[in-house]
Amino acid sequence: MNETILVTGATGKTGKRITELLRAQGHAVRAVSRSTDIRFDWQDADTWPAALEGVNAIYVVTASLYDPDTLNQLREFGKLAIQNGATRAVMASVPDDGSEEFQVLRNAENALAESGLGLTVLRVRCFMQTFSEDFLRDYVITGELRLPAGDGGEAFIDADDIAAVAVATLTDDRHIDADYELTGPRALTFNDVAQELSDATDRNITYTAVSPEDYTHEQEQRGEPKEGVELLTELFATMAAGDLMTTTTHVRDVLGRSPQDFRDFALRAARNDAWDA
Ligand SMILES: NC(=O)c1ccc[n+]([C@@H]2O[C@H](COP(=O)([O-])OP(=O)(O)OC[C@H]3O[C@@H](n4cnc5c(N)ncnc54)[C@H](OP(=O)(O)O)[C@@H]3O)[C@@H](O)[C@H]2O)c1
Repeated sequence: MNETILVTGATGKTGKRITELLRAQGHAVRAVSRSTDIRFDWQDADTWPAALEGVNAIYVVTASLYDPDTLNQLREFGKLAIQNGATRAVMASVPDDGSEEFQVLRNAENALAESGLGLTVLRVRCFMQTFSEDFLRDYVITGELRLPAGDGGEAFIDADDIAAVAVATLTDDRHIDADYELTGPRALTFNDVAQELSDATDRNITYTAVSPEDYTHEQEQRGEPKEGVELLTELFATMAAGDLMTTTTHVRDVLGRSPQDFRDFALRAARNDAWDA
């Protein structure tokens, strides 16, 4: 019987945490990305068989939110996974808010499910770690969050909670066919975020609401790729509209405990020198 769990995106924010948690629980894990010893590239199907050998369950992180090939990749990957004896997958996806910019990922969920893999979908809101390990970190370091999010915000989720839910769902078949929307315990506006980050770092961090046009211009000046900037501008528009300020009980339903609060994330990240320039 195959018992290895394949973790794609294993060098990323969720994948590295999931790999650590699974190994700590004694599971056999194959952790892959384009930069691991067993190289796995969504854009190179020749790298898939070695990753899938002897695998039962798979954590799926797609290549990028705006890769038009995602749908085909997951359709083919799902078929190959089944041929190799895999039975289930847990996919990191996006909220089911009907927004156009993420539709490719929702279609990809269906493609994976149609392959016959028992699927659990994790619809994750914006990670708290976006401020400490990703594209918003520089804004925290400079002390000004210049974003087109108006008075809106998000029920930001801690990546540690996503990882804990992913591990629970990868290792328990009762979660097959479940569709979980993972949020933090409360919604924060970007003014709230700036206040929490200021308190945690003992520095003055502010939020400035900029127009989508100014944001786009500033990002292009920084040399950010056009398609990525468009996607983020759409995402901030969804936040500005307040559509992502709802919370769910799904983290508690799966883990039996509340999701972690932004304040605890910020204090922990500050203690770990996340914002040392
Ligand atoms: N960040 C958020 O706030 C947020 C919100 C909603 C949904 N999500 C979704 O949640 C999922 C998990 O995100 P994450 O933050 O854990 O990921 P991440 O930190 O962005 O890391 C991406 C991972 O994918 C790998 N990767 C990139 N291109 C690849 C390719 N062509 N083939 C194979 N591997 C590739 C990267 O490693 P290499 O570069 O070494 O290949 C890395 O391990 C993603 O699907 C993301 O879109 C994220």
